Amino acid sequence: AVTESRVTLRVNGTEHRVELEHSATLLEVLREALGLTDSQKGCDDGRCGACTVLLDGRRVNSCLLLAVAQEGREIVTVEGLVAAAHAEDDRHPLRPAAEERDVLQCAYCAPDQHRPAAAAPTAGDSAQPSVVTEIDLPTDAPVRLTADEVRDRLSGHLCRCGAYPSRADTGLDVVV
Ligand code: FES
Repeated sequence: AVTESRVTLRVNGTEHRVELEHSATLLEVLREALGLTDSQKGCDDGRCGACTVLLDGRRVNSCLLLAVAQEGREIVTVEGLVAAAHAEDDRHPLRPAAEERDVLQCAYCAPDQHRPAAAAPTAGDSAQPSVVTEIDLPTDAPVRLTADEVRDRLSGHLCRCGAYPSRADTGLDVVV
């Protein structure tokens, strides 16, 4: 039986022709074939969010998806978000905000916690920018989220060192 295929994956705006095992997850291909290691392997079964990427603008756990099925989809990793933010501005507003408030301790879960989409409006929100739009969000049109909205957008995210609850209780208010 055929167990390998050659597919084209579009990641962070670039097409990559990769040969992969049919059983390879998107996370494995991103990390091992493409060297995009900001997406982490935490639980490897959909519980922690450390492997989060955007797939056609929606947050997904890349450890749960077969890479071979993602041909033709738009995949954005943390590396792509950071590059987009740098192209717009020197640093995304979330980065200095997170540094100022000492949000991260070990940083293992940074792909989901520190990623703009985690704290930004999602594609399903009405009257707010979509995740894809948010990547290109002009700095003169900020979207202000309350602490409760930030908590809601981080729900399902597993922080191993437990840094964020104390910060959220200080009334975290993030501008993206
Ligand atoms: Fe994918 Fe934990 S590694 S959700």
